[in-house]
Amino acid sequence: MKATLLIQNIKTIYTPVATPPVHGKHMNKIKEIHQGFIAIKDSTILDFGVGDGDKYIDNHTIIHNANQTIVVPGFIDSHSHLVHAGSREDEYEKLNEGVPYLDILKDGGGILGTVEKTRKASFEALYQQAMKSLDHMLSYGVTVLEAKSGYGLNFENEVKQLEVAKQLELAHPISIQHTYMGAHAIPSEFKDDREGYISTLLEDMKKIKELRLAGAVDVFCETGVFSLMEARRILSKAKDLGFIIKMHADEIHPLGGAGLGVDLHCSSVDHLMAIRDEDIEKLAYSNTIANLLPGTSFYLKKGYAQARKMIDEGVAVSISGDYNPGSCPTENFQFIMQLASRELKMTPYEILNAVTINPAYHLGLSATHGSIEIGKYANLVCLDAPNLPYIFYHYGINHTKDVYIEGKRVVYQKQIVRS
Ligand code: NIG
Ligand code: FE
Repeated sequence: MKATLLIQNIKTIYTPVATPPVHGKHMNKIKEIHQGFIAIKDSTILDFGVGDGDKYIDNHTIIHNANQTIVVPGFIDSHSHLVHAGSREDEYEKLNEGVPYLDILKDGGGILGTVEKTRKASFEALYQQAMKSLDHMLSYGVTVLEAKSGYGLNFENEVKQLEVAKQLELAHPISIQHTYMGAHAIPSEFKDDREGYISTLLEDMKKIKELRLAGAVDVFCETGVFSLMEARRILSKAKDLGFIIKMHADEIHPLGGAGLGVDLHCSSVDHLMAIRDEDIEKLAYSNTIANLLPGTSFYLKKGYAQARKMIDEGVAVSISGDYNPGSCPTENFQFIMQLASRELKMTPYEILNAVTINPAYHLGLSATHGSIEIGKYANLVCLDAPNLPYIFYHYGINHTKDVYIEGKRVVYQKQIVRS
């Protein structure tokens, strides 16, 4: 048994209280505890409340001073394309001049450009590049990250990406949730044989399951990428194999991906900038989470998802980063949260639910993550701010002071301690 760790002198603790998935108006509920403490034992929360927690002090207790920071549950970024090779700053100029994202992909660039680089990259090169990204993310308070494959697009290279993510998980404090995304694009060698690629992918999915390299499957359902019918076929098979399923849906064209996601019981449907009104209603009556990615709208200048309408109609929303080289090249999760405030017009409480308990729910982790509750992992972010709304107002900087993952302080006074 390890000694109790007592975090004292917390200005305010903010934590979700509603049972997930937190829908609509319930997203605007957060519990605040002023001048409080959190006691931690063996990686989980032993107790928390008002005062100094003096009853937990004995000869062995380790005491940390929060120095009047505010404390929130560790952020959960439930959508990323973490492992990839290289960058695409050459496309940035084209996008800036107004060339559409899907045209770049049609011309063999975009995702396929990164596929070429990722196939050529060594395990070590991919590992080092992603490790740097994880450090950035951790510094902004991300404690759990979902990471997709999808830049290999053949068995060998998809496995390479997933294995890099598995290795990173062992070496880095951030917990990683692994998703297989062979259905990210049709690789160029199969461009005249879609059926050939999809049947290969269905076989690969089985092997990925046997190798336990991923717990979820994602499909990019979009004009010129995977159709609704193809997404249904791939995700149904994934579900039969026991994967959690999710979808990049209605990002650019209103195909009805969100509605299909509800029908298939996807855990989340992601992007949704072009969602149809009837699918907002369908989502509201389901447990499928609308995972919105405002950093992508910002970068692609495509307009933002209608978060306000979704929440007002009762949808359960989460907010994620979508870190990737082509449509959202940033690891700054607090900037993503600031965009949720400014562009999605969500309230500070709604955003806190959207980056903690709701993503925990759709990743299948809400019993252990996503809120400050006795028995849950002590994943905590101490923010150097007088109150929660302040972190949305004072934008573009990093408010993190300390981060705890499973009871261990892994960022201290803004310094990362990896071992
Ligand atoms: O979530 N939309 C599809 N996939 C990624 C972008 C991948 C890329 O451009 O490399 C996304 O935006
Ligand atoms: Fe994505």
